[in-house]
Amino acid sequence: MIRSIVESCGAYLPERVMTNDELAKKVDTSDEWIIQRTGIRSRHIAADGEFTSHLAIKAADQALSRANMKAADLDLIVLATATPDQTFPATATKVQATLGMHRGAAFDVQAVCSGFVYALSVADNMIKGGMAGSALVIGAETFSRILDWNDRGTCVLFGDGAGAVVLKAGEGKGTAQDRGILWSSVHSDGRYHDLLYVDGGPSTTGTAGFLRMQGREVFKHAVTNLAAVVGETMGKVGLEAKDIDWLVPHQANKRIIDGTGRKLGLSADKVVVTVDHHANTSAASIPLALEAAVTDGRVKRNDLLLLEAMGGGLTWGASLVRW
Ligand code: UT7
Repeated sequence: MIRSIVESCGAYLPERVMTNDELAKKVDTSDEWIIQRTGIRSRHIAADGEFTSHLAIKAADQALSRANMKAADLDLIVLATATPDQTFPATATKVQATLGMHRGAAFDVQAVCSGFVYALSVADNMIKGGMAGSALVIGAETFSRILDWNDRGTCVLFGDGAGAVVLKAGEGKGTAQDRGILWSSVHSDGRYHDLLYVDGGPSTTGTAGFLRMQGREVFKHAVTNLAAVVGETMGKVGLEAKDIDWLVPHQANKRIIDGTGRKLGLSADKVVVTVDHHANTSAASIPLALEAAVTDGRVKRNDLLLLEAMGGGLTWGASLVRW
């Protein structure tokens, strides 16, 4: 059975760090409120002239060099973003050109904060279907560009960054002990599209628009939907929560992360948390968290990782990966 083995990961965060205290000078908020309600202490903000593609290329370069691979060897780039450089072409094609990959296919996937799980599942299925032997999956965002910096309900929550993984086709026995992506589940329910959206776009206002969110409503859906999709994904592979070595969740809010960990009965030291210093980087948050835990030695070969996310759409999903 063909499995998509995760060969390596890479990450990039813009240099500039913005603290909660700095935000408190712009809007009516406080370090205390932000930490208590979200767990966020600081976030990285892209410099003027630093675009989503630039962040993506840096994360991709690191992932490729750690996999000892050249971009020219790749068959596929799938880039998850809700903040592309331009309406079109896909940011993935700019990344493809800069990396020096002139064959195969490159395209964007748009599922907002669930984008990385969606992109991973698309790439995995293209590898399993024989359409690609290798793939670069990237989550990259510059949410700072679509924030209303006068809206304290949203501007304190997000940050910029990018993360990437390299996948390669490998052989598995078809069991839960195989290395690679064991299963991904993705869902959406468009009835809730106006709980978290951007109030602009090429076909409506002709401007990029600003992010708008009914935070409390999104929070409620996140808790329910994440529990359901995690249960579904574990069930598909025939594994139980006790088998999980690391929960690598989307980093929107520490309270949501803690709630999911508690429901699974996982102790806090089995949960990767980066929301404190990255804030919510949307599609980039899972690969950024993954890279942090791999680089500091927490995640080891053959560990079972559960990735999960929920975002605008509403969209949500989970992946089980044996590292
Ligand atoms: O990644 C995509 C998915 N997104 C999410 O998962 C986000 C989900 N939602 C959340 O994380 C939380 O709902 C928030 C962090 C956005 C908000 O936390 P909350 O505990 O749900 O607060 P709230 O929206 O119910 O607001 C409570 C109070 C309000 O004041 P009143 O009406 O009680 O007087 C807000 O106006 O806190 C106020 N508030 C703030 N105060 C200081 C809202 N934002 C701020 C702020 N600083 N930045």
